[in-house]
Amino acid sequence: MKLGLGSLSIAAAGTAAFSYQFLSPNVLYEPSPIVNAGKPENYAVDSVTMDVNAGIYLIHAQEGFFALSAVCTHLGCLTAWKPELGIIACPCHGSKFYVFQANKIPGEKIEGPAPRPLPWLETSISDEGDLMVDRSITVRPMQFVRV
Ligand code: FES
Repeated sequence: MKLGLGSLSIAAAGTAAFSYQFLSPNVLYEPSPIVNAGKPENYAVDSVTMDVNAGIYLIHAQEGFFALSAVCTHLGCLTAWKPELGIIACPCHGSKFYVFQANKIPGEKIEGPAPRPLPWLETSISDEGDLMVDRSITVRPMQFVRV
């Protein structure tokens, strides 16, 4: 009899533990999609600055500021800015993308297996005058932020 009750309480404890685990929310905490890129004056005209952690490029073109995703649209490798060539290139399978070429839209593919251009990301100026990039919002190309 004593043994029976013990087994019962072990079983009850097991059920309680299972119920707790089952009923607890399984929340995954994602980092914020919004990146504060700092003051515009920190970026020279015709510069491409990569934020490796955020996976973005902040680009200061003659027309203004814009941000591109640095994640290759082929299989998701992180691309790299090649200043000597003036292009963005993917190290994985060789996709290449325009940045400053005349009559070309920045982010458009030059060559390689990438199926889509690098997306333009929503870029704005905060009330404090900082450049803000929202990685969760893509925008139509050629929307420059002027300060
Ligand atoms: S992941 Fe960039 S070319 Fe394949």
